[in-house]
Amino acid sequence: MIVVVVLAGVPAQADEDCAPCHRAQAEEFAKTAMARSAATPAFQKEWAEANSDKACLACHAPSGRLGVACRDCHGGGEHPFASVAIPDACGRCHDAPGESTVRMFKGSNAARSGITCLDCHLEAGQGHHAFRGASDPAFLQNVATVQLALADERLIASIRHLAGHGLPGGTTGRAVWLVLRGLDPNGRTVWIERQRFGWRNDGSGWQDHSLAPDRATVVEIEAPGRDGTVAVEARLLYGRQPATKPAGEAAAGFEELSRAAISLP
Ligand code: HEC
Ligand code: HEC
Ligand code: HEC
Ligand code: HEC
Ligand code: HEC
Repeated sequence: MIVVVVLAGVPAQADEDCAPCHRAQAEEFAKTAMARSAATPAFQKEWAEANSDKACLACHAPSGRLGVACRDCHGGGEHPFASVAIPDACGRCHDAPGESTVRMFKGSNAARSGITCLDCHLEAGQGHHAFRGASDPAFLQNVATVQLALADERLIASIRHLAGHGLPGGTTGRAVWLVLRGLDPNGRTVWIERQRFGWRNDGSGWQDHSLAPDRATVVEIEAPGRDGTVAVEARLLYGRQPATKPAGEAAAGFEELSRAAISLP
């Protein structure tokens, strides 16, 4: 008797066209920001300004697709693919000059307690390809808090966040702002101070000034009661356009992560 064993149709070789056989994964991944990261108007505009520099595509479309593609994570091998090594497979694009996400993650409490990128970035109840991130405003809810306290003649603002790496994660393209306003008894702005967190280029190259995970970052303001200030308001804002600075009261184009206020004695 001849027994024919059909090995579930697993191909010895599979080219990039994985979708016909893995429709669920392909459809789920197609909805993510990564899958179209070279096709968005924002990328196309900046890329044109950078004279279509090929270096951009090393992260945005290394396989010449609309964005990140199947083999960029699954590797160049053949079926059966080795399981995706987290976080090193991500580090190819999320650990680079101007991108410290994986590096910061490796030193975090999350990594030490066995939490991976996937625990935070996959949509609950979906498969392994529903990656979510800061491009979805809902994802930023309750991510960070700012608290105010007074000590001696100083105002102390402390910021904490729950991301498993720096805040903001990602590249030079994101920024977090702490905006502090001194208010008079009529609620009018007496003084305003802003501090920016994220990547910064002061002329000698890009430096990482993002908010470290797991510990408070403290900002101190001298003489907060100057010029008749009776209260201070703090807002923590998330910006997707690195060059833009939030105005005082209005902060169009920014997500508010947290807010706090304190009365001065
Ligand atoms: C951003 C990285 C990434 C990309 C891009 C990616 N995958 Fe995956 N894929 C994973 C991870 C993580 C797993 C979890 C299992 C593992 O470790 O292999 C996975 C698992 C799978 C599995 C096993 C079944 C399952 O759903 O867990 C299949 C099949 C698969 N991927 C197909 C694809 C296809 C097809 C594409 C392109 C449309 C794709 N993947 C793109 C990261 C990726
Ligand atoms: C001709 C159909 C076919 C094509 C094309 C195909 N696969 Fe698969 N793949 C399968 C089958 C069948 C399995 C066995 C497990 C299952 O039923 O999901 C599998 C399993 C997998 C797994 C699970 C781990 C493993 O290797 O056993 C991953 C990951 C995977 N494929 C990724 C891909 C990626 C990425 C591509 C494109 C580069 C691709 N596949 C192309 C049919 C295909
Ligand atoms: C404990 C949860 C947690 C873990 C673990 C985690 N992240 Fe994040 N990640 C977040 C949160 C929350 C944000 C949104 C706030 C921010 O920008 O940091 C974020 C933001 C990001 C961003 C920026 C997205 C954007 O659109 O600007 C990237 C990229 C990212 N994470 C990748 C990773 C990778 C890769 C890993 C694993 C090495 C990882 N994350 C591990 C919670 C996590
Ligand atoms: C080939 C490069 C590449 C690899 C590999 C890669 N990413 Fe990304 N990732 C990107 C790019 C480019 C973006 C920016 C997408 C955009 O906003 O246009 C991004 C964005 C993200 C975001 C933000 C999504 C959002 O909606 O804000 C998360 C989260 C993320 N990646 C997680 C991961 C994880 C986890 C892995 C590993 C399993 C991984 N990435 C592997 C290039 C990559
Ligand atoms: C090391 C990998 C890497 C390289 C190289 C890279 N990017 Fe990105 N890019 C990312 C990641 C990750 C994100 C998402 C998180 C963020 O915006 O910080 C992103 C986001 C962006 C965004 C914002 C997308 C949006 O919709 O908000 C634009 C625009 C962009 N990149 C353009 C470029 C251009 C132009 C170049 C080349 C000059 C480039 N990138 C090179 C990884 C990279």
